[in-house]
Amino acid sequence: MQDYKDILAEILINEETLQTRIKELAEEINRDYQGKDLLLICILRGGIVFLVDLMRHITVPHQLDFMAVSSYGEGVRQSGGSVRLSLDLKTDIRGKDVLLVEDIVDSGNTIAYVLEFLRTRQPHSLKVCTLLDKEERRETSVPIDYRGFSIPNKFVFGFGLDLDEYYRNLPFIGVVDLKKYEPPALR
Ligand code: IMP
Ligand code: MG
Repeated sequence: MQDYKDILAEILINEETLQTRIKELAEEINRDYQGKDLLLICILRGGIVFLVDLMRHITVPHQLDFMAVSSYGEGVRQSGGSVRLSLDLKTDIRGKDVLLVEDIVDSGNTIAYVLEFLRTRQPHSLKVCTLLDKEERRETSVPIDYRGFSIPNKFVFGFGLDLDEYYRNLPFIGVVDLKKYEPPALR
């Protein structure tokens, strides 16, 4: 796999900026969920890095669960199209105050699907927290209750977001240089 430095066009959001904003989001969540029965649902796999950093600043008692969805198209092809559930929750969410934790909302199709699906299980409340929002790319309108950053229409990686499953560990959000990146299938 290529070193990230060879395919990085620019650092869009650095580590310090990310961490400052994540703390602010957590503080907002702490205020809004006081006395509620908070359940954080992380959408795998992109949401995990954000989730872990966010929850370290969440002081209201809460539970965690995970779900995964797949959309067709990986790598640097942006998402869109059909979405399906590939891993269901372990928790019964009925009556709970559910907060979905996502890495990025792009077309909006993933979140729209997840919201519709979770609503049928009758949580007490259902909200969305996303680290990144590529508003320009929206195909399906979705409510976003907590937004880390609005970003331009560029393919990004790092901080949970992958390029063909690599680079999720990077502590910043980088823009990929598509002229330099060689997807594994083409190597
Ligand atoms: P949506 O259904 O189009 O909103 O897509 C959401 C999913 O697409 C995210 O959870 C990411 O997995 C993926 N995605 C969208 N844009 C990017 C990107 O710039 N980098 C990495 N993954 C992305
Ligand atoms: Mg994802």
